[in-house]
This record gives sequence, structure tokens and C-alpha cells, in this order.
Amino acid sequence: MSTPTPDTRTVAVHAGRHDLTALGVHAAPIDLSSTSPLPDVEHGGEAYEQLAGGGRPGEGHSLVYQRLWNPTVARFEDALAELEHTDEAVAFASGMAAVSASLLACVAAGTPHVVAVRPLYGGTDHVLGTGLLGTEVTWAEPHEVAEAVTDRTGLVICETPGNPTLDLVDLQAVVAAAGDVPVLVDNTFATPVLQNPADHGVTLVLHSLTKAIGGHGDLLGGAVACTSEWAVRLRQVRAVTGGLLAPQVAYTAHRGLQTLPVRVEAATRTAQEVAAWLAGQPQVAEVLYPGLATGADAELVARQMRGPGSMIAFRLAGGYAAASTVAQACRMIVHAVSLGGVDTLIQHPAALTHRPVPADARPAADVLRLSVGLESAGAIIADLEQALAQA
Ligand SMILES: Cc1ncc(COP(=O)(O)O)c(C=O)c1O
Repeated sequence: MSTPTPDTRTVAVHAGRHDLTALGVHAAPIDLSSTSPLPDVEHGGEAYEQLAGGGRPGEGHSLVYQRLWNPTVARFEDALAELEHTDEAVAFASGMAAVSASLLACVAAGTPHVVAVRPLYGGTDHVLGTGLLGTEVTWAEPHEVAEAVTDRTGLVICETPGNPTLDLVDLQAVVAAAGDVPVLVDNTFATPVLQNPADHGVTLVLHSLTKAIGGHGDLLGGAVACTSEWAVRLRQVRAVTGGLLAPQVAYTAHRGLQTLPVRVEAATRTAQEVAAWLAGQPQVAEVLYPGLATGADAELVARQMRGPGSMIAFRLAGGYAAASTVAQACRMIVHAVSLGGVDTLIQHPAALTHRPVPADARPAADVLRLSVGLESAGAIIADLEQALAQA
């Protein structure tokens, strides 16, 4: 694995904290105010209008009301934007709130058509497929994106590596195919440590903070790192829909960023060992892992990513029955949805995270998804070995 540059580590530790010494503190303060004092009616009204319209607060202006702006959330947003190489970031109460705000911004702009490349997280697939928020979707393979775009298309959406089968998408190619239409990439699996989609021309970089950024399985959050123009649009939607990230959670997510590079680096090293071991097991039909990619996919990983990451999918030779037995038979590895935490998790995507996906697009029933944590490779392999023996 090409390791993250020292700069990524340094940025992760210090981003969003550059004013702390001047403030005379070491840890970032948590601002819990749900409302803020107003200097007078006129200036209060001006500040309200600016923030409700998606703007940033003016110097010395009142922050009016937490749903419009919160300094602790803004600190985290600035840090994430620095790590993702974007102008700004906008944080939400969950990853799905971030997806929803991005879709609602398209509907509000009169461009409700979305071109989406599968696989996507089951919740994202579900909201697009049902059209619950007023969007219309065209599902496309990466090479079909250009043809699928119309003058009503507001977004092209993809994930790479994709949830759950780690499919890879060539970001530069999709950005070129999308033309003037902005591309949204869910970067939850790769994290900003291993991939910066904005460097490849992507306009919106989405994260479920619930995963590696939080990193300890104890928070729910989402964010979109994006251009300033999109940040205004997303803050406007956030102000009216009320999906702001809570300040205490923003503090924890911001702290999570500080250790993100070392956690991702360590879990990636372990995942490489686990993936190689899985590939040699007779009960395993196939291992889906960017670190085992060959040919054009291997070239893409080298060009677009700084490492293959900590997520592995694998197919069981014994089909659904074997997959379900292995998931249940794990002892140390926790049988649970979610990913990117310090402990290793295993789950069956077709039954759980991707259950809402229509049957013809759902992951195969023989697939398990493994989120490799910070335990030793030996301990993870030993647990998988006894679980596979029961399949
Ligand atoms: C890739 C990806 N994107 C988005 C989400 C949604 O995030 P949240 O659960 O924080 O709403 C998830 C959740 O599993 C995910 O895996």
C-alpha cells in the first residue's frame, strides 16, 4: 500500500483547530447554544436572512439559531473540507440526511433527474428507486452515463469502492461523461485518507460520518464536502429541513478525524492480510477487494486511491446457507451492519444493508461483507477460520 502522505496525517490532526491557541484552549470548545442573542432587530433580521439563504455568518454577526449555524459544526466542516481538498463542507444528522439534502437541492433547482451508477448503499438506492423525494432516476453503467444525461439532470451519483461489493468507478471518466452535470461520489469506504474525489473533478464528496470518520461505532452523522456554490444550496436545504449535525456529535466526529489516517492505514494493512488469506480458503469462491484487483482495475486503484482500504466482500462456495452460517458463527467479529469502526464487523448485504434494493439489482445471496477493524490479523483470521469450518 502506498501510505498516506505525512501531510494527510498532519492536516487531520490540526484541521479546524488553527485558532485554538489564540483562544487559550487546547481542545475545541463545544457550543451548545440553540439560540444566540441579537444586537438589535434590524441586524438580527439581516443575519437571519443571510444564514437562512445558505450564507456563512458575517464578522461579528449574531448566529441567530442553531439550525442555521453552529460554530462546533462549522469547525468540523472546515476540517473535512481541508482533508477532502474542497472549498467547504456541510454536515448533517446522518449520511442519509446528506444524501437527501443533495437530492432535494436538485429538485429545488428544477433538475430532478439523477443518473446513478450501481452498486450504491441500500438506503441511497432505495431513496432514488422510490423517487420519495421527487427525483427521477436513470440507472447506468459507468460507460452509459453520457448517454443517460439530459437537460433535466441535476446529479450523477456513484460510489467507489461501491457498497457492498467494492466495485470501482473511474472518477475522471465519469466526470468527463457527466459534462456540465455535477458528480456526487460517496467516499465513505475510501475515506479522504485513501481517495480525494475532488482532485479528479468531482463536485460533491459525501460521507457517512457514522463509519470510519467517527470510527468507534458511537455516532451518527453525514457530510458533503463540495464547492462553495453547492455549500450554499445544501445549507439552505439543511436550514429548512432541520437536518443539522448536533454539536456534541460534530465535536466527536472532529476528534475522529485526528486519528483517521493512522486507523485507516492500520486497518488497511490488516485487510490486505485477511483478504489474501480468504482467497486461499476452499469455502471461499471469490474475494472482492481492491487490493486483489488485476488488469484495468489494478491500474485504477493505483491512479485513484492511496491504498485498497479496510472493506472486503467475499462469496461463499456454499451459497446463502454457508454465508448465513459464517455470519452467525463468528465469535469475536461482531455480526452487525455499519463499518469503519475499531472492531471488525460482518454482515449479509442482501438480507440487511441492501434489502431495499430491487431483487434484480441486489447483491448475490452468497456475499458477505467484512469491515476490518484494529484487532490483529491473526485474531481476525482465527475467528474466520473457525466460522468457515462450520459452513
Ligand atoms: C456508503 C454509505 N453511504 C451512506 C450511508 C448512510 O449513512 P448513515 O447510516 O449515516 O445515514 C451508509 C450507511 O451504511 C453507507 O454505507
